[in-house]
Amino acid sequence: MGFKCVRFEIEGPVAKVIINRPDKLNALSINTVIELHEAFSRIKKDNDIRVVIFSGEGGKAFAAGADIGELLLQDMVGGKDFSTRGHELCNLIENLGKPVLAVIDGFALGGGCELAMAATIRIVTENSKLGQPEINLGTIPGYGGTQRLARLLPRGIAMELLLTGRIIDAEEALRLGLVNMVIKKDNLQKEVDDFVKLLLNKPPFALKACMEAVNHGVEVSFENGCKIETNLFAMTCGTEDMKEGMRAFLEKRKPVFKGK
Ligand code: COA
Repeated sequence: MGFKCVRFEIEGPVAKVIINRPDKLNALSINTVIELHEAFSRIKKDNDIRVVIFSGEGGKAFAAGADIGELLLQDMVGGKDFSTRGHELCNLIENLGKPVLAVIDGFALGGGCELAMAATIRIVTENSKLGQPEINLGTIPGYGGTQRLARLLPRGIAMELLLTGRIIDAEEALRLGLVNMVIKKDNLQKEVDDFVKLLLNKPPFALKACMEAVNHGVEVSFENGCKIETNLFAMTCGTEDMKEGMRAFLEKRKPVFKGK
């Protein structure tokens, strides 16, 4: 499959997925969602890829939402398909098994905010704006926004943002816990590269286990979440990287993880 609405690049252990419709503020057309699904499916299958940088082209937007021109044409059946595709994509990103850094420089609205919430970490520039303005278009988020926003933020705050469609700036997003860090635009590349390096130095299986424990554990009872954690913890004990991490500590040296 060729990519038209998305740029997909692999540089060693790092994959870059860039939404590429800058003249439409990277609005998520159906084809964009299909291409994103294809890119992330390839990443999931490729064991050599360890970290993903997910961004938008053009310096104005990560994505300004689902394509409103296409949304207007939906009927109930089409709307269900539209939303299901979005959920499949967001669930794929959330459960990719490798960290996905959503790098937001500008607008992350509607489906853009929903994709960012499915990512593992959100890094935004100072001028970024986030929100779920669907209510102002007569609808609600359809890519998991009502669910992920209410899990990431206190329920009352999520409810207020969903009911008013209020768009928030980067500082408020940080204060509320919607994003992990706010970076000056000029430093963005360096800060992202540094964060990627930090993750590349971690043991990949343990990273995957952490993400699985959190993502699956928060959806079940505390007791069952702990059982999920126990099983994943036990699995890390069977990895060479775990032995290396423990030995390196005892030998007072830095560990060298091999992903085994
Ligand atoms: N769907 C389709 N096209 C979109 C879009 C979307 N979600 N968001 C922006 N665009 C298009 C605009 O129609 C415009 O296209 P044109 O140049 O062919 O007219 C282009 O992108 C630039 O957008 P524009 O509105 O001119 O930029 P702006 O800087 O004045 O405003 C926003 C930026 C983000 C505030 C504004 O584009 C906006 O409100 N977008 C919709 C956000 C939204 O409601 N998203 C949820 C969708 S469910």
